[in-house]
Amino acid sequence: MSVTILAIESSCDETAAAVCKDGMILSNIIASQSVHEKYGGVVPELASRAHMQNIVPVVDQAIKNAGITLTDLNAIAFTRAPGLIGSLLVGTQFAKSLSLSLGVPLIGVHHMQAHVLANLIPDEKPSFPFLCLTVSGGHTQIVLAKSALELEVIGETIDDAAGEAFDKTAKLLGLPYPGGPLIDQYAQLGDPLKFKFAEPQIPELNFSFSGLKTSVLYFLQKQTPEFILENRNDLCASIQYTIVQILLKKLVKAVNQTNVKQVCIAGGVSANSGLRTGLISLGQKKGWQVFIPDFSFCTDNAAMIAITGYYKYLSNQFVPLSVNPSARAEW
Ligand code: KG4
Ligand code: ZN
Repeated sequence: MSVTILAIESSCDETAAAVCKDGMILSNIIASQSVHEKYGGVVPELASRAHMQNIVPVVDQAIKNAGITLTDLNAIAFTRAPGLIGSLLVGTQFAKSLSLSLGVPLIGVHHMQAHVLANLIPDEKPSFPFLCLTVSGGHTQIVLAKSALELEVIGETIDDAAGEAFDKTAKLLGLPYPGGPLIDQYAQLGDPLKFKFAEPQIPELNFSFSGLKTSVLYFLQKQTPEFILENRNDLCASIQYTIVQILLKKLVKAVNQTNVKQVCIAGGVSANSGLRTGLISLGQKKGWQVFIPDFSFCTDNAAMIAITGYYKYLSNQFVPLSVNPSARAEW
C-alpha cells in the first residue's frame, strides 16, 4: 500500500508544508516572514500571527503542487518540538483539525530529528549508521543515527549555537541580522589566517562558542571603526575560519570515537561555503563519505518533517488528538 503524508513545519519564522509519497517528496512550500527584519531577530508574537495568515495558502499550494487532493492523504505530520510555542501551536492545531476532519492519524515530529533525516531525501543517501553535524541558529549537535528512529546526540553546544556565533559576531561588526550569510559573503574575499581568535578547549564532543564571541568583542573594542571597515573581509574570513575549525575538529573526534565514516550535515549553517568546502576536503583526506543535502532541505523546511513522518508512519508512531507541542527539546 502506498503512503501519502502531508507535513507542516511552523517552529520558528517559516511557515512550511510538504507532501511525501512513499518517501519521495512531491511538493515543498515555504513562506518566509520578512516582518522580523527590522527588529534584528524573530519576534515570537509576530511570528505566530504570520503563521496564522500563511498556513492555509501554504498547505493549499503544497497539495496542489503534489498533484493530489486532501482525500489522498494517509496521515498528517507536524513539528511538535522544539520551537517558539505560539508558532508551534498554529501548526499543531491546524494538523489536528485536518487529521480529525479527514479521519487520518496524526504524527508528531521532533524538529532536530527531522534536520538529521533530511539526509534521507536525496537519491544518494547514507546508509545506517551515519554521523550528522546539525548546525542551525538554535542548535549545534553531532548525532549518531543508528536507524531513522534511533538517533543519539553524542555532542552538543554548551552555550551558543554555531548560527548564533555567526550572527552575534556579525552584529559586533555592524552587520544586519541574520549576519551568517553576510560573513560568508565577505569571507570569500578575505584572508582566513589574518586574525587569530580564541578556540575553546571543551571536553568530549561538546562545543562552545561564547569564548570566540568574547575574543572578537575584545579585539574589536581596541580598533577604530575605520579599521573594522577596511579589514571587514579579513575579519569575516578569520571568524568563519575559526568557527569552521571548531566544528570540523569535533567531527574528526566523533569519527575516530565511533569509527563511523559516513558523515552528513544539516541546518542553516550548512549553507556556509567555508564549512561545505572544508568538510568536502576533510572527507577526501580522511576517506570519509560526505553527504550534503540540497540547501532547500538544510534550512527549516517541511520536506524534512514529511520524510520523518514517513518513517514514523511505517513503525506506527502516532499521537492522539490531545497532543500538545513543546517549546523544549525534551517532550
Ligand atoms: O536552520 P536555520 O535556517 O534555522 C534554525 O532552525 O535556526 O538556521 C539559521 C541560521 C542563522 O543563524 C543564519 O545566520 C545561519 O543559519 N546561516 C549561515 C549561512 N546561511 C544561514 N551561517 C553562515 N553562513 C551561511 N552561508
Ligand atoms: Zn531548524
